[in-house]
Amino acid sequence: MKRQANLIVGLQWGDEGKGKIVDHMAQTHDYVCRFAGGHNAGHTIVVGDKTYALHLIPSGVLNPKAINIVGNGVVFSPSDFIKEMEQFDNLEGRLYLSDKAQLLLSYHSKIDQARERMKGDKAIGTTGKGIGPAYGDKVARVGHRLGELHNPQKLTKKILEYFKMNSAIFDVMGVDTPNEDELLSELIEYKEVLEPYITDTTLLVWKALDEGKKVLLEGAQGTMLDIDHGTYPYVTSSTTVSAGACSGLGLNPKDIGAVTGIAKAYCTRVGNGPFPSEDLGEDGERLRKSGHEYGTTTGRPRRCGWFDAVAMRHAVRINGVEQVALMKLDVLDGFKEIKVCVAYEVEGNRIDYVPYDLEDATAIYEIFDGWENSCGARSFEELPKNAQEYILSLEKMINCPIGIISTSPEREDTIIR
Ligand code: IMP
Repeated sequence: MKRQANLIVGLQWGDEGKGKIVDHMAQTHDYVCRFAGGHNAGHTIVVGDKTYALHLIPSGVLNPKAINIVGNGVVFSPSDFIKEMEQFDNLEGRLYLSDKAQLLLSYHSKIDQARERMKGDKAIGTTGKGIGPAYGDKVARVGHRLGELHNPQKLTKKILEYFKMNSAIFDVMGVDTPNEDELLSELIEYKEVLEPYITDTTLLVWKALDEGKKVLLEGAQGTMLDIDHGTYPYVTSSTTVSAGACSGLGLNPKDIGAVTGIAKAYCTRVGNGPFPSEDLGEDGERLRKSGHEYGTTTGRPRRCGWFDAVAMRHAVRINGVEQVALMKLDVLDGFKEIKVCVAYEVEGNRIDYVPYDLEDATAIYEIFDGWENSCGARSFEELPKNAQEYILSLEKMINCPIGIISTSPEREDTIIR
């Protein structure tokens, strides 16, 4: 029998509502693994009267029986992780961190913020958490890995050499760095807290799969923010698509089982960069208000617009999505008309694929009749007729079944078809 891991991946520009689905699926999985990104990701989960903010810790932390893994593809900020851990009782035996995960230290976020400042109106609009500089150091082979925390003295020396090599650039950028004593005591503190959790997580995931355990791979951000396949350079610095789950954990393609893609019934993006179906008028404002579209990590208002079926088809294909979970359908309640981007116009031509650069693409829309109330529906038949038609049409446009539909933030208000 084949042992495979189930994968959840974002299909738009992040913030698709993955949290609700991952949280739900985490209850039935033995292992939940993060494979990419860092603490730029984030969602809040409400359990009873407690609210948990998760950025780096996998969502399985709320299932007391699940083992949580932070894979090698992640950029890992020890200080933020330690703060996040404080929300929970002792996680020993339920949480493992890859010794190959890339260390993200405070100088990375300072570099990130300085670069953004220097770019002025060309800024990417990053979360300012240091994600780009940490991945940059990784591929430039001047970064450091979590396993190096085993020897803080040696690691301190290496980082000080890196500071020396970059001192001229840091001066221009206004990036200050810690001295030897400060750095050493910081790294010793990280070692003391994190050492029990650091291990070879690839071996753990292989063992789990070999023993027939249920493994869930939790994607972060979304396909259109992927370093290769997104709207470069307005992207994050990781492989957010399903292929990233293999390299980010040490799996092979045959280890990947069912792929569920998460998308909102409309579209949002934070930060700069092209967004052809953005609505800068009243409708966009209404989507933001009804959908509470403000960033979990930075609190920034999200840019809002309509479902982009072209980008979604691209995302379905690139990720090998078998079913889509369509989130926040109820946010569209009460709109007279609902637009869907069905093609782009680029230099006077109509195209139905994602071009090299989306900057000059404008959306061509098909207009659907709206509906009054889908909120709280728990079966497809309960949905207003026009909402049903909207979903059936989207399925055809994106070449993929929509197997899950979310009609409110409540866990139970979910239609499984
Ligand atoms: P970075 O990942 O902080 O470098 O930011 C690069 C781009 O990705 C910016 O446009 C961010 O707004 C966006 N981004 C990063 N993480 C998220 C997320 O979790 N949700 C939505 N957008 C994100």
